[in-house]
Formats: sequence, C-alpha cells, structure tokens
Amino acid sequence: MKLFVGFLVLILLSEIANGRFIVEKNSLRVTSPDSIRGTHDSAIGNFGIPQYGGSLAGNVVYPKDNRKGCKEFDGTPFKSKPGSLPTFVLVDRGDCFFALKVWNAQNAGASAVLVADDIEEPLITMDTPEEDSKNAEYIEKITIPSALIEKSFSETLKKAINDGEMVNVNLDWRDAVPHPDDRVEFELWTNSNDECGVKCDMLMEFVKDFKGAAQILEKGGYTQFTPHYITWYCPQAFTVSKQCKSQCINHGRYCAPDPEQDFSKGYEGKDVVIENLRQLCVFRVANESKKPWVWWDYVTDFQIRCPMKENKYNKECAEAVIKSLGLDLKNIEKCMGDPDADSENPVLKEEQDAQIGTGSRGDVTILPTLVVNNRQYRGKLEKGAILKAICSGFEETTEPAICLSGDVETNECLDNNGGCWQDKTANITACKDTFRGRVCECPMVDGVLFKGDGYSHCEASGPGRCKINNGGCWHDAKDNYTFSACVDVEGSKCQCPRGFKGDGVKSCEDVDECKEKKACQCPKCSCKNTWGSYECSCSGDLLYIRDHDTCISKRASDSKSAWTALWIILIGLAIAAGGAFLVYKYRLRSYMDSEIRAIMAQYMPLDSQQEVPNHINDELQHA
Ligand SMILES: *[C@@H]1O[C@H](CO)[C@@H](O)[C@H](O)[C@H]1NC(C)=O
Ligand SMILES: *[C@@H]1O[C@H](CO)[C@@H](O)[C@H](O)[C@H]1NC(C)=O
Ligand SMILES: *[C@@H]1O[C@H](CO)[C@@H](O)[C@H](O)[C@H]1NC(C)=O
Repeated sequence: MKLFVGFLVLILLSEIANGRFIVEKNSLRVTSPDSIRGTHDSAIGNFGIPQYGGSLAGNVVYPKDNRKGCKEFDGTPFKSKPGSLPTFVLVDRGDCFFALKVWNAQNAGASAVLVADDIEEPLITMDTPEEDSKNAEYIEKITIPSALIEKSFSETLKKAINDGEMVNVNLDWRDAVPHPDDRVEFELWTNSNDECGVKCDMLMEFVKDFKGAAQILEKGGYTQFTPHYITWYCPQAFTVSKQCKSQCINHGRYCAPDPEQDFSKGYEGKDVVIENLRQLCVFRVANESKKPWVWWDYVTDFQIRCPMKENKYNKECAEAVIKSLGLDLKNIEKCMGDPDADSENPVLKEEQDAQIGTGSRGDVTILPTLVVNNRQYRGKLEKGAILKAICSGFEETTEPAICLSGDVETNECLDNNGGCWQDKTANITACKDTFRGRVCECPMVDGVLFKGDGYSHCEASGPGRCKINNGGCWHDAKDNYTFSACVDVEGSKCQCPRGFKGDGVKSCEDVDECKEKKACQCPKCSCKNTWGSYECSCSGDLLYIRDHDTCISKRASDSKSAWTALWIILIGLAIAAGGAFLVYKYRLRSYMDSEIRAIMAQYMPLDSQQEVPNHINDELQHA
C-alpha cells in the first residue's frame, strides 16, 4: 500500500519536474541605508498571511544567536516599541522547516520574516511541511508574512547590519496579482475528500468561511469563479491492478489516493474521484443556468450532510443535496457520464489539461491552490487573506464594496485625507479610497464635475458649478442683498460682481463709487455709497439719470424738443409706410392687368399684342 502511494507521488513529482512550477514573488525594497537602496524579488511563503494589495515597512534585525530560528527565541526581543517601525527578522535557511522559523519569530514579536537562502539558486517557494506532520498545528497559527531572499542579497543586508547601519525595507505585495480590469477570475483547486487530516480540515473550513464573500462577488458580477479538481492517472502497466481499480475510474484514467490510505477499509480513491466529478458537474449545470454560485452551497451542504465519518459520503446523500438546491439531477448525471467506460471523460480530461500551467501561471501541484487572475496565491487559506488577494486583482477604483470594508483594508483617506485636496467647509474631498491605497482624483458632486490635479487643487467646473460651495468663489450676504463672484459659465473664473473689487476667490470689497468712480458728481448731486452700489439724489426738482450720471429736470418744457423729434420720426415712418403700400398696390394692379390682357388676347386681337408677356403660353411650353 505504502508503495503505491509513493508511486502516485512519484508520478506527481515527475510532472513537476517536466512542467513549470512558478514561484510567486513580491517585491522587497531597501529604503535605507542609501548605499544598498534598491528593489529585489522575494518569494512569498506558502503560509502566514501575505498582505496582498498592501505593503509593510520594517527594520531588519539579524539575531546574534539562533540565526536559523529553529529554536524558540527568549521572550519577545523583536517586538517593536510603539511608534517605531515593525521588526523584520532575518534568519538563515536550513536545519528545520521554514514554517517553524517563522513561527518562532512570530512568537518573539517579529512582524515579518526574511529567510536567507543558503545556496545561490533561483528563488523557491517555501512550502508547509508534509500534510500529516505533527507540527502542522502551528502552521495554522502563523499570521505574519514571510519571504525567501537570495543568498547574495542576504549577505548585503547582513553586512550593513554588522556595520551598525539601520536597515529599513519595504515588503510590497501590491503587484503580486495582476489587476488589468474590473473583473477578477479566480480558481480554487480543491478536493471533496474530507478525511485527510489538517489540510482537508483547513480546506473545508475555508470553503465554509469564504462562501458568503464568494457569492456576493459572483452575484455582483465582480468575479468569475471556477472550481477545479486534481486527478492523477494510473500508469499503463498497472491499470488492471487491484490498486488502480480501487483508486481510479474510466480504466485507470482518473485516480485519487485512498482517503484513509488503507485499501481494506472505508472509502476508496475512486469514491473521491466520482464525488469530485459530481461537484464539477454541479458547477457546470449551475453555471449553465447562470447561477454558478450554487456550487458553494452544494459543497458546504455536502460537507455537513454527507461526511465520510458518518458513512454518508455517497450518491444517495449527494443527490439529496442536489435536489434540495433545486438543481437538475438529470443534467448532472448526463455530465458525469459512465465511470466504468473505457474512454475519456470530457469533464475530467479538461481538468487534467488545466493542471498544466499556462502563461504566467505554473502547474498546479499543491492542494488546495487558489489562482487569482492566473497567478497562484501563496499564503494561508484564510478568508481575510484571500479576499485581499482577490481584491488586489481589481483595477484601482473598480473594486466592489466588500473590498473596502473595514476588516479587509485600511481607509487611507482617513489619515490626513490621504494627502489629497479637500474643501473642509463644503465637506468635499478628492481622496478616493481604493483597495491598494488611495487615489487623489477631483470628484463629481451633485452632478458638478471638479477639475484639477486632485492634490493641491480642484475646482468646480461647468454648468451648475455655482451651486457647489459657490464654485469656490467669494460670496457674501448683507442687508438683504447677496452677492457672489461665481459666474456660471464654462471655463470662467471667479469674478467680483459689479460694484466690488478683489480676486473674486478670497475677497471682494465694496467699491466706494462716490470716491473711486467719481459717480454722482454733478453740482446738484449728493452721493451715498452703499454695499455693492451707491445712491445718488439730486437736489430740488431734479431727477437722477443713472446711465448718464446726471440730474435732469422733471418739467415737460425741457423735454419739448424730444417730443418734436419723436413726432417727426413717427410721421416720417407713416409716410414711408404709405408710400410703400401705394407702390405695392400699383405693381399688383399692373401685373393683374397684363394677366387679363393675356387671357383676352387668346380670344380677340389686341392693339399691342407683342408687348404683352404671355404667361400662359410660357407655362405651356415648359410643361
Ligand atoms: C460558465 O459560464 C460562463 C458564461 O456564462 C462561461 O464563460 C464559462 O466558461 C463557464 N464556465 C465553465 C467552467 O463552463
Ligand atoms: C462628509 O461627507 C461624508 C460622506 O460624503 C459623511 O460621511 C461625513 O459625515 C460628512 N462630514 C461632515 C462633517 O459633514
Ligand atoms: C430686509 O427685509 C425685511 C423683509 O423682507 C425687512 O423687514 C428688513 O427691514 C430688511 N432689512 C434691510 C436692512 O433692508
């Protein structure tokens, strides 16, 4: 039995060797000392919680003893004091599991761990120890991120630390996942087996935990999720062996290891393959009816209702779950096909093909594996961490609300308004919180667009701009009068209204028209300045004419000449109109005359026939 399990592993290993295993990286930037500033790659550990979409700055410490971190550290030497940078512990590779080094450092107060490789080689992924290891329990409890760095780079860091320099680095996961558009594609490579110890428990726990978020994302159209299942094939020479018969379906084409690793009892590998196939078909049928998220319901319900422990991991139980979710059982059966047939199963064949990496994604060999935008996720399978990885896959500002909820991200706009422009009095800001940070972008408020660089300057523009905080212009109200320097026209700047002077933004001051404009200065005038205007009164019986800034008499005699002029104009107009009318009448009559003469000419000779234009004949000729 052991031999056979080893055998499957061998096939798996040979596939890794032939295929490509891509190491997921984040960037590590040294910010001080100046002499070694620069950016380096580091490989994200497959445990702990990497801060997908974020970054973390820290001060690097290389312990004096226990440099490999395989033993517990005394107390919490790496706990950073309030206000100082978090501590990143640099430990050497070797002697124990990567995860144990990180666990020891975490217990000693470290915020992140950098593991220095001990040989010159391309970066590798630090994975968890083999599944059934007794140590697996602490892996669950690792919450700090970790990264492997190249040997030569680690020596540079060590030298700087030895020289007494303060070494500050920034671990950055912002570009660990590509973020090309407003939809994230993600895959979970999973297994229906619920009896494989810690890893299976972790996976089931995660699926249950993540279901809510996954369904929100899927229903909102933010993500396209696809579940996947790994299968192996039985080598040709062994297809008729007892082992392959119990672990495989379709004559050795699709196999899974025996859940209990004991052929004599419990479930067999092929039971797992069949349930995996059913779960794939549940997804396909649900996806066809445009409800792909029902897969999460099925998988979690199946875990609860049909566990191996209670001997319910079987077809009857699975079909009861399918029925209760209202899925079409016939279609699912059709999709599953015949497991005893000596032919390919199209669904499982596709899965085997998908295992091989494409583009930037390496082969999938670790179970479970999450793939986000075609990059393999590295780190603990935990709701918050995974949501971070998915959220970091959205193009900035297109992320759904769930990504901006408090437990997933920090709102950078709350701190100093993110360094963006803001108008505190109108409560308008250019800071837009995004998952990976924030952007400073002039906003749109009540349909009014703000324009500017978003950092130091934004200004309402276009129609309606005066509605918003008076377009950022000066305005004031006094004595029942309101004045504004805002001009509601595209492209216009603030302009003090008539009767005021100033920059129009901060201030407009009343102009004293009596003094500065020399208004109302005629001998009989008396001037009084008011806010935004002036009043002028004339002494005696005089009337002030504002347009001419003068006082005139109200009496009729003075305006006689004006009336005369008016009469002349009116009479002139009347004569002109009368003349025009007469001309018109005359022309009309002469025309009609000629028409009548033309008609009569058809019947009798007339004296001056040649001179008469013959309209009727003209018309006939042209017809
Ligand atoms: C699920 O449906 C979408 C379209 O509705 C399709 O693009 C996608 O390929 C389907 N996925 C699978 C695994 O069939
Ligand atoms: C400013 O506006 C935001 C929402 O746009 C609101 O949550 C906040 O309470 C407002 N603050 C003030 C001081 O009005
Ligand atoms: C403002 O208007 C109110 C009524 O419209 C009037 O009673 C008041 O006297 C006015 N004040 C001034 C300073 O003109």
